[in-house]
Amino acid sequence: MSRQFEWWREAVVYQIYPRSFADGNGDGIGDIPGIRRQIPYLKELGVDALWLSPHYVSPMLDAGYDVADYRNVDPIFGTLADFEGLIADTHQAGMRIMCDIVPNHTSWEHPWFIEALAHKVENDQSVPAKARYADGPWARYHLLRGQANGTLPPNNWISIFGGPAWDELTDDQGAGTGWWYLHIFDKSQPDLDWENQEVRAEFRGHLRFWFDRGIDGIRIDVGHGLAKAEGYPDCPPIKDGDPTHLNPYWDQDGVHEIWREWRAVADEYEPARIFVGEIWVGPAARSARYLRADELHTGFNFGYMTAPWQAKEIRNNITNCLRENDVMNAPATWVLENHDCWRAVTRYAPIIGQDETARTESGALDITKTVDWKSPRDLEIGAKRARAALLTMLALPGSSYIYNGQELGLDEVFDIPAEQRQDPAFHNTGGVSVGRDGCRVPLPWGTESASLDFNDNDKLWLPQPKHWKNLAASVQDSDEHSMLNLTRNALKLRHEQPALGGVVDHVPAIVWKRSGKSVLDFIRPARNGGRAIRCVMNTGTKPVRLRKNDGIVLASSSTAIVNGKLTPNASVWLWV
Ligand code: GLC
Ligand code: CA
Repeated sequence: MSRQFEWWREAVVYQIYPRSFADGNGDGIGDIPGIRRQIPYLKELGVDALWLSPHYVSPMLDAGYDVADYRNVDPIFGTLADFEGLIADTHQAGMRIMCDIVPNHTSWEHPWFIEALAHKVENDQSVPAKARYADGPWARYHLLRGQANGTLPPNNWISIFGGPAWDELTDDQGAGTGWWYLHIFDKSQPDLDWENQEVRAEFRGHLRFWFDRGIDGIRIDVGHGLAKAEGYPDCPPIKDGDPTHLNPYWDQDGVHEIWREWRAVADEYEPARIFVGEIWVGPAARSARYLRADELHTGFNFGYMTAPWQAKEIRNNITNCLRENDVMNAPATWVLENHDCWRAVTRYAPIIGQDETARTESGALDITKTVDWKSPRDLEIGAKRARAALLTMLALPGSSYIYNGQELGLDEVFDIPAEQRQDPAFHNTGGVSVGRDGCRVPLPWGTESASLDFNDNDKLWLPQPKHWKNLAASVQDSDEHSMLNLTRNALKLRHEQPALGGVVDHVPAIVWKRSGKSVLDFIRPARNGGRAIRCVMNTGTKPVRLRKNDGIVLASSSTAIVNGKLTPNASVWLWV
């Protein structure tokens, strides 16, 4: 194994959702000049790298995950020159920067799809159901003949955002043509056909375009998608809780060949560029396959995020992930929040009056699960748990991601008028799914302007709740017990203490101590002359005794330890 420092094995990466982070020109939408202004804040926070959600030209029907031009910057975010400036500023500050690529689908405003739509198709009743139309520009997408003489979709696939995953092409008079194109997400996001060599070559070009500009790595959107099962079979009926359930458009073997091609492109560079895959694949042994030596460097372990507030389940997730990733010599990648899921504070908050150990709802993309977002929740408990889970995450071996605003302990916002909501998941389900706007509300930076210093006026693309005034970064900055300062302290220690850093061959990454339903307890052994650090988290309802002589390194809150005991919903780092 190369001894070269592989930063991505232990980096803490900060996810910036560009429209929500900071607004430089005062139009109410975050942008690149806004991000550049906050580089000192990010440096002080202590993260190693930034990842930006899509910054490309887009009609923004899925907040930029619908790309119309992969090689330019959307004007609402700025210019290509702004972006190059951001890369330079980030590097200047000693951090790395990653962008996001969306290969499963394009926008319907992408020139390829516009060209395909201009290509007239005939409503020919003699064509059998599911026949593929792959002439000319349609060869880049999935266009199939519908069932029942073309009047019904080709199969039973459902869009992640609600409704069928197929839309019928119409002729100039608006009549159906019997031909349907595939969109696993919104109808404005047609799926690309990855068996098509032109599609593959084009995306290798996109990678090089951004790598050539100095991007250090790329997050891959829907990394478990892209390949579709041969013959487009129906989805099997969902049996509740069946871990082997697999829809024929997820985690197909064909996808690995694509990642091998991409890895070869990343390896052409010096230093080699890296990938992190959005891999929503449950069984750890399956998701680890994306991390084989010639595929992706890292992939999100979403199980840590979706685990209920129970030490036993969290520990199972950690041990499974570490075991399977070890087989691939790949680091684990931890995450508690992103732009698709409820803020941790709200997710961990029990519904008032309900069983404390009830499974926390992820509020994620899965619209087939009805999530109760109307019952009031105990956000105080939620906040304690979010702090504890963050501290535990930052003690685990591997790389970690922090989503913008997570370091401020922001909660999910539900109070958004329907007409202001933007997520297609809300609109396509007629509001049954609350959607993801609630974790995308513009960040509170200070208390000077009406937008809490998101910009210098009152313009905001989504409204901020009143109580966020108390959570503003400037307010937390001067409170030593704030979540912001907890995050800063944890990240500082991570850099100073070798035990929390990269794994060395001869030292075990982690040693488990006490086990139980509601106590998580592990040691990161001493290495490189530093001291060992122990992390204990209490997910139960009773205080947990700690060893007398273990000194406290950092506790998740000022009330975490009382009379030498770790209180419920808290975690602590200890010197061993
Ligand atoms: C990923 C993104 C999500 C987006 C979807 C479609 O899951 O994280 O925000 O809506 O892909 O691109
Ligand atoms: Ca702006």
